[in-house]
Amino acid sequence: TTIDIEAARAILRANDRGGYTVPTDRLYPFQWNWDSAFVAMGWATFDKERAWRELERLVEGQWDDGMVPHIVFHAPSDDYFPGPDVWRTRHAIPTSGITQPPVFATALRRVFEIARGPDAQARAARLYRCALASHDWWEKARDPEATGLVAILHPWESGMDNSPAWDEAMARLTIAPTTPIRRRDTSHIGAEMRPRDEDYRRFIALVDLYAGLGWEPAAMWRASPFKLVDVATNAILQKAEEDLLALAAQFGTEAERRRIEARMARRAAAFARLWSEERRIYQARDLCTGTTVDASTSAGLLPLFAGIPSAGQAAALAAELEDWLAKVPYPVPSTSPLDPRFEPKRYWRGPIWAVVNFMIAEGFERYGHAALASRIHLATQTLMRDGGIAEYFDPTSGDGLGGSQFSWTAAIRLMIDQ
Ligand code: DGY
Repeated sequence: TTIDIEAARAILRANDRGGYTVPTDRLYPFQWNWDSAFVAMGWATFDKERAWRELERLVEGQWDDGMVPHIVFHAPSDDYFPGPDVWRTRHAIPTSGITQPPVFATALRRVFEIARGPDAQARAARLYRCALASHDWWEKARDPEATGLVAILHPWESGMDNSPAWDEAMARLTIAPTTPIRRRDTSHIGAEMRPRDEDYRRFIALVDLYAGLGWEPAAMWRASPFKLVDVATNAILQKAEEDLLALAAQFGTEAERRRIEARMARRAAAFARLWSEERRIYQARDLCTGTTVDASTSAGLLPLFAGIPSAGQAAALAAELEDWLAKVPYPVPSTSPLDPRFEPKRYWRGPIWAVVNFMIAEGFERYGHAALASRIHLATQTLMRDGGIAEYFDPTSGDGLGGSQFSWTAAIRLMIDQ
C-alpha cells in the first residue's frame, strides 16, 4: 500500500547521513558495503540522484588494490565496536580491512537501468571501473590458487556473521584477541538477538591477526586459520559478474568481457563441488581442513539467484525449502529449522532477512518456480507490515527483531513493489 511505501521511503530519508545511508541509527552508524548496495536499489525507485550518490560514497572507501571494505567510517561515532582504532588500516578515509558480499555491480546495473538521466552514462562508466577492480581483487586476493571459487577470511565478510556454517572453524581457532573487547551492540539491542561474547573474542582475534600483517592480502591468505568457501559470497559474486558483463557491453573492452566470461565459466563449473546430493542444498567448504561444512543455511539456496543449479537441482532446493516450511510458518529461515543449531531469534542462526528473501525469490523465479517465488515475496511484505521494517524476523512468530527502522529492509520493500 502507499502507506507502506511512504514508511519505507521515510526510513531511507531518516537514515541518510549526507549521500550515504546508515543501516540504522546508533547500532550501525557508518556505511556498510552490502547494505549500501541494496539501499541504492531502494533509492533508485524514488530518488535517482540519491541512488547514484550511495554507490559513489561507498567507493570513496575502495582500496588501491580494488577491495571495497565492509565498513566506511565516514564520520566518528562512539556507538560501534570495533571502530577505526581497532582496524588500524591506512586508507585516507578510515575503513575496515575486510570486505562483504559483492552486490555492488548488481546494484549498479539496476540503478543504471532505473535511474536514467543526463549524467547517468558518465557516472555508470566510472562506477563500472570500480566494480571491475573489485571483482579482479576477489579473483587475485581470494582465489590465488585459481580454483574458480573465492574464500572469505572472516565471518564478517559473509555478512552472515554467526551462521552455524562457521561454528567448527571458529571453535578451532587458538588465537586470542589483543584488543580489549568493548561491545556496544548489546547496549542498543538485546543480547539474545546478537552473536555471543565467545564469537566476538574470535571475531576480534582475527582482526588483530590481520592488522598485525598490515592487511596485506597474500600474507593474510598464508596466515589465516579461517578460510571458508562461502556459498552466498560466491553466488552473489557470480550474479554480480553477470551484471558486470552486461555493463561491460557498453563500458568495457573486449578483453574485459572475455576475462569476466572466463571467470564465470570457471566458477559455474566449480560450484559442483559445493552441491550436496544428500542434503539437497549447496554447502560451504573449509579450505583449512579440505572438508564440506555440514550446515544447511539460507546461503545454500542463493546459487539460484545466479542461475547456477540445473533444473533438477533447483527442484531439489525447492523441495528442501518446503521441508523447512513444514516446521516454521514464515520463509526463509537463515538456518534450517531441522538443524539442532537453529535459534529463531539469534541473528543469522534462524531469523529471516529481507535481502536474502529477495535474492532467493528472484532465484526461484528465474527457474520458473513462480508460486514459491511469490509466496516468499508476499511473506516478506507481511512480515514488514506486522513486525515493522526491522533488521530481521523470527520465522516462528513473525516478530520483528534486532534494529528497527532498518534501511536495507526498507529498500527491499520498495523493490518488491516495482
Ligand atoms: C556487526 O557489527 O554486527 C556487523 O554485522 C559486522 O559488520
